[in-house]
Amino acid sequence: MKKKIIFATGNEGKLEEIKMILEGSGLEVISMKEAGISVPIEENGTTFEENAVIKAKAVAERTDCIVLADDSGLEIDYLNKEPGVYSARYAGEDTPQSIKNQMLLDRLEGVEEEQRTARFVCAIAAALPDGRIFTIRRTIEGRIGFAPVGEHGFGYDPIFYVPELGCTTAELSPEQKNELSHRGKALRAMRAKLEEEVLR
Ligand code: IMP
Repeated sequence: MKKKIIFATGNEGKLEEIKMILEGSGLEVISMKEAGISVPIEENGTTFEENAVIKAKAVAERTDCIVLADDSGLEIDYLNKEPGVYSARYAGEDTPQSIKNQMLLDRLEGVEEEQRTARFVCAIAAALPDGRIFTIRRTIEGRIGFAPVGEHGFGYDPIFYVPELGCTTAELSPEQKNELSHRGKALRAMRAKLEEEVLR
């Protein structure tokens, strides 16, 4: 029988992504809703790892299953790693993404290409029923472009240019992005970690 894992997110897209990545493993992901768990979570950590652990622990207190949670965001070096853990809340949670993207482009007005380095970061935490906690962080390096380009993806993808690919992450198909992205890499690394720790 497969071991059940609860993914502590309300985001359907993330749930589908992890389901795809765990296919063929001995692990089966279910949503909080499917597990009948609803818990208000305050993401008040100062690092991606802290926030992922806060979310995973909050759910783990209510179940005997393994719980996974993630936290992600964009770090821009020239802006002292802003928006960072505040990426979703940058300029206000309800501000349209196109305006957030434009605000960041405006703050980088006149900044040379070499100084526009940035990365997407994803931290994933796993809380095990025996109390153990694992965290994994993965990134994708890039640069902030000079204008939004591309229709795929979400969030800051249209302004995140990957020099090796010659395009933004908003120009990649979901499969291509999954291969390279901070979240895809972190989820695959967490799959390997859990296979080693709980399925052996
Ligand atoms: P959370 O991880 O759901 O708390 O949200 C992180 C925020 O970071 C999102 O709302 C996006 O603004 C941004 N973000 C994280 N990953 C990506 C990505 O792959 N592309 C674009 N924006 C991202």
